[in-house]
Amino acid sequence: MTIKQLEKITKKASDELLQAKDQRDLEKLRIKYLGRKSELTRILRSIKNLPQKKRPIMGAKANEIRKRIEDLYNDATEKMKISKALDKDEEIDVTIPVKAQAIGHIHPITQMLWRAEEIFQKMGFEIFEPFEIDDDYHNFESVNIPPGHPARDLWDTFWTEDGFIPITHTSSMQVRILKSRKPPIRAVVPGKVFRNERTDPRHEHTLSQIEGIYVDKGISLSDMIGTLKTFFDAFYGKDVQVKVVPDYFPFVEPGNGMNLSCVICDMKGCRVCKHTGWLEILGCGMIHPNVLREGGIDPDVYSGFAWGFGLDRLVMLKYGIEDIRHFRNGDLRFIRQF
Ligand code: PHE
Repeated sequence: MTIKQLEKITKKASDELLQAKDQRDLEKLRIKYLGRKSELTRILRSIKNLPQKKRPIMGAKANEIRKRIEDLYNDATEKMKISKALDKDEEIDVTIPVKAQAIGHIHPITQMLWRAEEIFQKMGFEIFEPFEIDDDYHNFESVNIPPGHPARDLWDTFWTEDGFIPITHTSSMQVRILKSRKPPIRAVVPGKVFRNERTDPRHEHTLSQIEGIYVDKGISLSDMIGTLKTFFDAFYGKDVQVKVVPDYFPFVEPGNGMNLSCVICDMKGCRVCKHTGWLEILGCGMIHPNVLREGGIDPDVYSGFAWGFGLDRLVMLKYGIEDIRHFRNGDLRFIRQF
C-alpha cells in the first residue's frame, strides 16, 4: 500500500459523492468509503503490520484521508438538503395564502396589534372593529355620558360638520356588543381613536386603542386584574406586577386605573416611570349598571368589567421609543427598525 493508493481512494470518493442523486446514494457511499468494511478502514487496521519506521507516516496520511472523505461526505449531505429545500419552494400551490409581503414593511403598531389580538383570542375573546366615525349616542350617551355632562370634557372631541364624531374612544362599541351577544360576553375592540390634542412627545391626535369587555354571572374586579395581568405577562414576555388605583370614567363603577411595574427598569426606578417603579397604563373598572341596562343586560343578574388602553404607549414601552409622533410621521427610517 502506498500514499498514491490513498490519494486515489480520495479522488474516487470525491467524484462519486459529487454524482450522488439522493440521500440513499450518499448513504451507500458513506458505507463504501468510511464504513467498517471499507478499503480505508482495512488500510488503517493493517498499519500495525507495517515496519516500525513506516507506521507513523502512513498512519498520519491515512487519518488525514479519512478526515477529508468525511468532510466531503458532510458537504455533499448539506448541499443535498439545501437543493431539496429549494425544490420544495418551487412547487407553487396557488391556494396557499402568502407568507410574506413582497414589498414594504409592517408598521410596529400593526405588528403589536396582531400580537395583542392573538393573546386575547387565546383567552377566548372575540374581536370587533369600531366605526371610525360614529354618532353622539354610541360615543357618549350610550356609555352614560348624556348631552351636557361635564365628563365630555375628558375627551378632546373632533366633530364633523354634520355632527358626527371621529370616535374619541373604542368604548363607542360597548353597547353595540352587549346588544348583539348573550353572556358570557368576551370581546376586544382594537381601533383608531381621534382627539383634538395639541401634539407633543406624549400626545397625538390619532391613537390605537384596545377596548375590552367581559360580562357574565359573578364577574368581579379580581377577574379583571387576573385577565389583564395575564395579557401583560404574555405581551411583555415577563412576569409584570399590576396595581389597581381609583380613577373616574362615567361608564364604570368603581372606575379604576391600572398601573404596571415599569417594564423598562423592572421597578428599579428610571426616567420613564419617574422613579416610582410604576407606569400608568390604562382605564378600567366594573361596567356601570346604566351601561349594562342600555345594552339589554340585567345588572341584577350579570356583572362585567371593561378596560381601554392605548397601544401606542405599550409599544413605546416595549421598544423604548421616546416620542409618540414617530409612529405617524411617515419617516421610513423609523419604521424599518422594527
Ligand atoms: N374609554 C376610556 C378612555 O378612552 C378608557 C376606558 C375604557 C376606561 C373602559 C374604563 C373602561 O379614556
